[in-house]
Amino acid sequence: MTQNELEQTLVLIKPDALKNSLTGYVLSQLAEFHTHLHFAAAKIVCVSQMLAEEHYAEHKDKLFFPALITYIMGYSHYPEDAWKRRVVAFVYQGPDAIKLIRAIAGPTNPHVAREEQPGCIRALGTVVPIKDDAGNVISERLDNLIHASANESDAEREIKLWFKPNDIPPMMHIYPTDVSEQPYYFKDNQLLMTHEPDSVCLIAPGDVVWQSDLEALRVISQGQASPCTLKAVAAKYLINDKRECCY
Ligand code: RTP
Ligand code: MG
Repeated sequence: MTQNELEQTLVLIKPDALKNSLTGYVLSQLAEFHTHLHFAAAKIVCVSQMLAEEHYAEHKDKLFFPALITYIMGYSHYPEDAWKRRVVAFVYQGPDAIKLIRAIAGPTNPHVAREEQPGCIRALGTVVPIKDDAGNVISERLDNLIHASANESDAEREIKLWFKPNDIPPMMHIYPTDVSEQPYYFKDNQLLMTHEPDSVCLIAPGDVVWQSDLEALRVISQGQASPCTLKAVAAKYLINDKRECCY
C-alpha cells in the first residue's frame, strides 16, 4: 500500500441522523463503490461528557459549546429515551479519505450546505436557535448529521480518541502501538498506578495501546506536562462504561 492509500479519517453519524433514520443513507453516500474507501473500524457509542468535551475541545470557549455537547451526547434528540442516545463511529481508509468525505458531508451549516452544495449530506440538516435566559438568540446549534475529520492531525487525534488499537484490524494500523507493562487506573479525574476502591482500570498489563497514550500516561504519572490531557486518554478506555454513560 502507498502512503496515500493509508490515509484514515473519523466519521461520526450524529444523533440527529439516527433519529431521522438516515444512517443507511449516510453509509450509502460513503460506500466503497462511490468513494473507493474501506472500513477500518466501526462502533456504537454512548457519548460521555468527557468524550464529547474532548472531541470538541477546540470549541470550548464558543457560545454554542454547551448546546454542541448536549447535541452530540444525544440529549437534544432523545430527551426521554436515554438508551437511544448514541452515535455510530467509523474509521474509513483510502486515498484522500479526509478530503473526499468532507466534500460528501458538505459545509458545516445546513443552510449554507443547501445553498452552496445541494445533494451533500449536511443539506439535510437543521439549524436550531440557541437562546439566553432572557429569550434572546445568542447562537445556533447546527444539527448537521455527520462529523468528518478536517485534516491529518485532527484525524489522528480523533481516531485515537474514539478507537483502541484492537478495534482496528492490525494490518490497518497506521499509528504506532505498544504493549503496556503496567496497569493504569482512573478515579476522580486522577491517574492512579495501583488499584483503589471505585477506581476504573484503564489499561491492564499486556494491553495493546496507542504508543502516544502510553507516553502521555508515563509523563502524567511523573507529574509532568503532557501534550495531551489525561481525559483525552481516559475517555476512550471508558467508552460505553456504565459509570461514564449518563443514564
Ligand atoms: P465537525 O467537526 O462536526 O465535522 O464539523 P466541522 O468540522 O464542519 O465544523 P467545526 O467548526 O469543527 O464545528 C464542530 C461542530 O460544532 C457546531 N458548530 N456550530 N453555531 C456555530 O457557529 C457552529 N459552528 C460549528 C456544528 O455542529 C459543527 O459540526
Ligand atoms: Mg470539525
